[in-house]
Amino acid sequence: MTTFVHSDLDVSAAKVVASGQALYPTQARASAAAAIALHPNASPMSGADRTKILENPGFGQYFSDNVVRATWNKAQGWTAGELISSATSSGGFGMNALHYGQSIFEGLKAYRHEDGSIYTFRPEANALRFQRSATRLALPPVPTDLFIGAIETLVRQDQAWVPNDPDKSLYLRPLEFGSENALGVRPSLEVTYVLMACPVGAYFPKGVKPVSVWLSDDYVRAAPGGTGEAKCAGNYAASLVAQAEATENGCDQVVWIDATERKYIEEMGGMNMFFVYGSGDSARLVTPRLTGTLLPGVTRDSVLTLARDLGYQVEEGTISVEQWRAGCASGEITETFACGTAAVITPVGRVDSKNSGAWTIADGGSGEVTMKLRAALVEIQTGRAPDTHNWLHRLV
Ligand SMILES: Cc1ncc(COP(=O)(O)O)c(C=O)c1O
Repeated sequence: MTTFVHSDLDVSAAKVVASGQALYPTQARASAAAAIALHPNASPMSGADRTKILENPGFGQYFSDNVVRATWNKAQGWTAGELISSATSSGGFGMNALHYGQSIFEGLKAYRHEDGSIYTFRPEANALRFQRSATRLALPPVPTDLFIGAIETLVRQDQAWVPNDPDKSLYLRPLEFGSENALGVRPSLEVTYVLMACPVGAYFPKGVKPVSVWLSDDYVRAAPGGTGEAKCAGNYAASLVAQAEATENGCDQVVWIDATERKYIEEMGGMNMFFVYGSGDSARLVTPRLTGTLLPGVTRDSVLTLARDLGYQVEEGTISVEQWRAGCASGEITETFACGTAAVITPVGRVDSKNSGAWTIADGGSGEVTMKLRAALVEIQTGRAPDTHNWLHRLV
């Protein structure tokens, strides 16, 4: 068992920036599921009811039959974990996570391939980001074996919930939170890790469609020294009002700009951004570099690799709102897209804002480079292209 005491907290481990190492090193792993005890739901959903849900699952509305739960306390460290009914819940209103937001999460997917086998994508990257988020929020990091073992155990048990359709998948949601029922403002002495799963449909049921974005001039997502590079609950609570403002202004998504100079593009809602200069084989891609205020997306990291594979020049740099606007006006910027686990790669077609005006992107989105990268990534995830980077992890 790993024992975590708060004085052990390695503060530097919470930081992604300036590590000088590969952001998410890929390693082959043996199965870690064996340690998790099985106490499955005694009344799982009927096949007929489940089939009906899988026809149109939406996003995060239906949960599979089971979850994996592990707990931590200061004296004993992490328990080995158990698979239990997803209808089980525990905890009280005093839980630290509810009052002080000591809560982090992850998001990844399980994909069924044509031959019926089931894989997930770069789970060790999500495990590492989860550990970095934990350290930033003064939570004990979940060991990688427990993180991945929980995924293997839950997906094997609930494999009937993985849709048999390349446009759909089973979304996996790891969650860790301070579960001690006590109101002291300090790191929780009891912590819970839960993995839950939801079938999810095609993000674009009618084909990939460019989104419109609203630049958030009034609200800031993350400031230097804050929690921007951690996937913590509070970041999302604080984003809701800006997303509501985007919607009120007729836009699909909010785009965040930096807190200090209020000038540079950081990211979009729950996705990282790429800007394409030029076209064809000589296209050059720029993505905002990880300054400590952006979430270091696993999809972003994968797109950087795939773009190099496809022969594009790629650069992690800075791009200001003015450069984006002027680049679109001159035709220098030909495409803009956002990327993340939920929607994979989403073209951006139109920008609007309070202080910087409105503009459209060259062909209104869905450009050639965007769609080529999207296809390259989806084909690896769904087993239709060779997994040359060892990104797939077999579950079933
Ligand atoms: C704020 C934010 N940025 C970027 C991303 C994209 O990250 P990933 O590609 O790992 O899903 C997410 C989603 O997790 C996010 O919530």
